[in-house]
Amino acid sequence: MASNHYDVAVIGSGPGGYVAAIRAAQLGAKTAIVEKQYLGGTCLNVGCIPSKAMLHIAEVFHSMNTLSDLGIHLPQQPTLDMAGAVAFKDKVVKRMTSGVGTLMKGNNVDVFDGLGTVDASRTVTVKASDGSQQQFSADKIILATGSVPFIPPMPGVDGRNVINSDTCWNLPAVPESVICVGGGVIGVELACMFSAIGSKVTILEMLPNILAPVDDEVRRLMVRILTKRGINIVTGAKVEAVEDENGQKKVIATTDKGQQSFTGEYVLMAVSRRANTSGLEHLIEQGLDTDRGRVRVNEKMETNLPGIYAIGDLVRGAGLAHVASAEGEVAADNATGHEAKMDYSVVPNPIYTFPEMASVGLTEAEAKQKYPEARVDRFPWSAIGKAVAIAETEGFTKVIIGKYGEILGAHIIGPDATNLITEYSVAMRGELTVDEISETIHPHPTLSEGLREAILAAEGRPIHIPPKKQVARAR
Ligand code: FAD
Ligand code: NAI
Repeated sequence: MASNHYDVAVIGSGPGGYVAAIRAAQLGAKTAIVEKQYLGGTCLNVGCIPSKAMLHIAEVFHSMNTLSDLGIHLPQQPTLDMAGAVAFKDKVVKRMTSGVGTLMKGNNVDVFDGLGTVDASRTVTVKASDGSQQQFSADKIILATGSVPFIPPMPGVDGRNVINSDTCWNLPAVPESVICVGGGVIGVELACMFSAIGSKVTILEMLPNILAPVDDEVRRLMVRILTKRGINIVTGAKVEAVEDENGQKKVIATTDKGQQSFTGEYVLMAVSRRANTSGLEHLIEQGLDTDRGRVRVNEKMETNLPGIYAIGDLVRGAGLAHVASAEGEVAADNATGHEAKMDYSVVPNPIYTFPEMASVGLTEAEAKQKYPEARVDRFPWSAIGKAVAIAETEGFTKVIIGKYGEILGAHIIGPDATNLITEYSVAMRGELTVDEISETIHPHPTLSEGLREAILAAEGRPIHIPPKKQVARAR
């Protein structure tokens, strides 16, 4: 039963908020969570989960092109029924979001449906969609209101067939063509998805490169793969306006060749996300410290207002679900009288293109600048038996090793990269040297062998490719 006082109240139920609520409840706090739209937040409803369900469908569909290499012949050309794909995606989302509901119940967390507004005295007012209101107080409040797509103020962005990551998941049919504005993570993941289901895709990116933070060598290979698939990547193209022309969308961009226009059926705006401060207006007036729209916090996730914490996409940082969850646990620990600090030194970065990309730590360029003595090498999937057996030989694993044998950075492009990166992440977190990885027996045949081989390669003693150096280093 709802109460009028809680030990901990969480505003927003994304992967930051719902994890914080579970953690607080586990630690014995009487806990409430307030959600204005959907349990599970961006991630479960319009982000990580639906995108991965649709990418899965797209990858399976795309793989049909190479079935005959495996001796599999379909009686007719496969087709994709968009309504069926959307129904699968909806089922996945429903299952995951109702799971969050079950977890709240199981942990005795009271769920309030409605927009939560908060003030510095830690009173929460919840306004439901029917206009009714409830109010309660809390000793500690964790703000986890997340982020929303940033829609730049440019002509035509609110027009017909201009979509974003909140609105692109229920299209009635496979688009004939899509122009992705922004070649960041969302633009590229969705470009990959649309292209694989049969849309003609153009990516317009204003910087000299798409995927700016990704290691150069990994990005170059991804650009080659996407281009080979027919995706038109135009860099140095700053989009300025969207218009309608003959039933099509026309996107106007300034490029080094002057003004250029690109036409397509849909325009996907993917030019970053902004912090969602709806419901926090009063707190901001009362002095909540923000920096370019994001709430400022210390390493304990405390804001400048007593008893008020903030986590996830609302604060500066990676914009990743797993980081939001980690911050949620730290905030909940501190809010319940325990001591915890956020440590961002090891944050794995997954990107769900196919093939996948994943990284942890420094890029090669960053490492070379900071540690000129760093050793770098890579190992190709084409020399790993399991990768050959599953016909996924494109890409490589690259490691950057410091002078004490520590891993400074690791980058994988290839099958299951987003899972594999965890081995290097654990090694970095545990301050293992590469010897601990190379001396660990890796099961055969597995993709994980490629991680060990990359380290051996950096040491001049790979087993399954010829060494570059004549003399291999002894153990
Ligand atoms: P959110 O998930 O945004 O949740 C905030 C919640 O708060 C929302 O439900 C909102 O309705 C609610 N809320 C806001 N204000 C109020 C209020 N005043 N009262 C009540 N409720 C309120 N990250 C990854 O790590 N891996 C991925 O593969 C990945 N894929 C993504 C794909 C897409 C298309 C997008 C858009 C994002 C993706 N992300 C991914 C990023 C990830 O979704 C976010 O980093 C994550 O959701 C942030 O979690 P959060 O809890 O901070 O906020
Ligand atoms: P982003 O910041 O990654 O990329 C936006 C891109 O748009 C940038 O490259 C920018 O230069 C470009 N851009 C901006 N204005 C432009 C203009 N007018 N014309 C052309 N290009 C323009 O933002 P994105 O892709 O929207 O993603 C937001 C966040 O969501 C990510 O930073 C990430 O934190 C999260 N996310 C994570 C995923 C994952 O972990 N796999 C998947 C999807 C999203």
